[in-house]
Amino acid sequence: MKSFFCALCGLLCCLVLPARAGTLPPREQAIERTLAAMTLPEKVGQMTLLTFNTVAQGTLPFGTKEPHRLDPERLWAAIGEHHVGAIFNTGLHALTLPEWRSVVTGIEAAAARTRLKIPVLYGIDAVHGMSYACGATLFPQQIGLAATWDPGLVGEIARATAYEARAAFIPLVFAPSVDLGRNPVHSRFYETFGEDTLLASRLGAAMVRGFQGNNLANPYRVAATLKHFVGYTMPVTGKDRTPAAVPEVVLQENFIPPFRAGIEAGAAAVMLANCELNGVPVHADRHLITDVLKNSLGFRGVVMSDWGSVYSLSDSHHVARDRREAVKLAVNAGLDLAMVPFDLDFTTLLVDLVKKGEVPMARIDDAVRRVLGLKYDLGLLTGPPPNAGDYPDFGSQRFADLNRRAARASLTLLKNEKSVLPLPKTARVLVTGFGADSMAALNGGWTYTWRGQDTDRYAADKSTILKAIAAKLGPARVEHVAATYDEPADLGREVAAARRADAVVLCLGEEPYAENFGNIDDLSLPESQTALARALAATGKPVILVLTEGRPRIIRPFVDQMAAVLLAYLPGNEGGNAIADVLFGDAGPEGRLPFTYPRGPNGLGTYDHKISEGYAQDPEFPFGAGLSYSRFRYSGLALDKAQVTATDVLTVSVAVRNDGRRPATETVQLYVSDLVASIPPPVKRLRGFRKVALAPGEQARVSFSLPIKDLAFMDRNGTPILEPGEFEVAVGGLHRKFVVR
Ligand code: BGC
Repeated sequence: MKSFFCALCGLLCCLVLPARAGTLPPREQAIERTLAAMTLPEKVGQMTLLTFNTVAQGTLPFGTKEPHRLDPERLWAAIGEHHVGAIFNTGLHALTLPEWRSVVTGIEAAAARTRLKIPVLYGIDAVHGMSYACGATLFPQQIGLAATWDPGLVGEIARATAYEARAAFIPLVFAPSVDLGRNPVHSRFYETFGEDTLLASRLGAAMVRGFQGNNLANPYRVAATLKHFVGYTMPVTGKDRTPAAVPEVVLQENFIPPFRAGIEAGAAAVMLANCELNGVPVHADRHLITDVLKNSLGFRGVVMSDWGSVYSLSDSHHVARDRREAVKLAVNAGLDLAMVPFDLDFTTLLVDLVKKGEVPMARIDDAVRRVLGLKYDLGLLTGPPPNAGDYPDFGSQRFADLNRRAARASLTLLKNEKSVLPLPKTARVLVTGFGADSMAALNGGWTYTWRGQDTDRYAADKSTILKAIAAKLGPARVEHVAATYDEPADLGREVAAARRADAVVLCLGEEPYAENFGNIDDLSLPESQTALARALAATGKPVILVLTEGRPRIIRPFVDQMAAVLLAYLPGNEGGNAIADVLFGDAGPEGRLPFTYPRGPNGLGTYDHKISEGYAQDPEFPFGAGLSYSRFRYSGLALDKAQVTATDVLTVSVAVRNDGRRPATETVQLYVSDLVASIPPPVKRLRGFRKVALAPGEQARVSFSLPIKDLAFMDRNGTPILEPGEFEVAVGGLHRKFVVR
């Protein structure tokens, strides 16, 4: 050991330095120096992630609705006595920007009084914008962003979110979710990028890059967390946090690639799935965490647990006798940072496990190196403290404009009989349905509060669908009849109002929910919503159905009677304005379905189903569907080679022409089918997509480079296999075959 001047951690850690540290790059030197100075309890503290309530005033565990203030005693118990290195979350309400700054600064001030002065890492669920800050820009939820099929736009949104999180002095976000949305019953469907592997991979990677840029120490960027590794979105029962089942080949083929893409984009952290996958609780699965995630995917960042998931190993999975054994299983499996989230016993238990030789010191050191590395990369160890004056754009018009653009791009027109849309601005409309005048219905969960139930209070200055339409047409042309989510509507009033109108904008869908609060037994909409839709349609007036929903609720009982269907997903705080823009022709609908919209509650399936499932597929709307206010014609699909080998890149090109009378944007989708393979091939897979904006009469030639090696499929060990044989390309209804030699 040599003594060494340490600019990072103050005097004490200057006293010790392993000899090898001098030969390392500066980042690793800093980490090794700090690590060498740490006691075991200090190391274990760095592996602990506590929820905010634990260090705040209020009744534990869940706190109060009072404005949050730090509790100096609780804070010191956590940081001073248990050496806790990371805090996350909010309490039961959103904080103002000054409140956030004072919370984070107060926590850092406590950290500065500890022996090693290692800053605390603050993390937050910024899943569609900086969720828990008053006045923040709340964008479409991920499922809506997926419908934009636009990685550039998704990157811009992540960048704006990073800006607003850093404005609150928060450097770590728990987003994006790159687990696939292939089971629409699951309450977290809306947090995904939908069912397709390529779309989720491209958008997830774009989001990671948008959050992180190329330098995490940049005061306008944050560290991203890929979640939830892996398969959590596939519960067998459909209920949240229940055992998931994903065949090994499907895991390798579909579920792992978006995580790989996020890791290659540089994601700083990964959160584990809080469920059992294929019979093993993920938090205890050494194969999945260490062999697959850390070794095979080469993930070098921080692996964190989900909420309370370490203790779930004993408390709900019953694979550990007690919490001590649960900690042992998780840490030995490869966990680096435990979201405990209230419990300081974690540190005591882990110290004891190390002392008794049940958790190796090398495992602790690996975890602490990863956590310190993240703190170093974020500039927490070396950089200047954040400066409140640097964030004038928080909640700005600039971000609201981006938000409105994103919401417009997500809106997906699924039906437009007799081109009823766009409606003329001279129309008199009835705007009704439970979502008509609700900011909560536009945003869903993770909005100011976890479940999003107080959104109308926080976003009182924003436009609901009703307000936005009234602003566009003038209030005299707009009538509103209020309806609730699941109570019988006043059909007499509704019908009378519909008769007075030229058209009805009927806003149906879901109330906000998060996690287990969104568990359902049936994808059908409440009976009252169906009854309202039918009663309005029976008036003979055109009914425009606008759906604000986080997952595809069944509309079969009345969809044939609807003149138009606009799927808005959960479009965020500018959703009302964007919907009004599209309904009245100030913008064209651009979104394309990022999932298969089922026709019946049990009619679940994905577009890339097996050929043997084909007879069972009869969706309401297929994956990739979406109309515009124009018409596109495809022609001249061409491949540059008829025969290829594994090392070739095939060029596929096609002409697209706007045959309609309005400018419009088309999303060109390239699908490839492997006609025969030794593992049953899917009917087709999305292999490329590109958006093209075309003026009326304009034609563009769009071309894709398709590396043939990317057409390989995975075997159950994750080994890519490319078999010779015939393949078929499909774009816009045109088909061409080629042969792999
Ligand atoms: C959720 C995570 C979230 C965490 C922190 C958990 O219940 O599953 O997605 O990041 O809470 O709020």
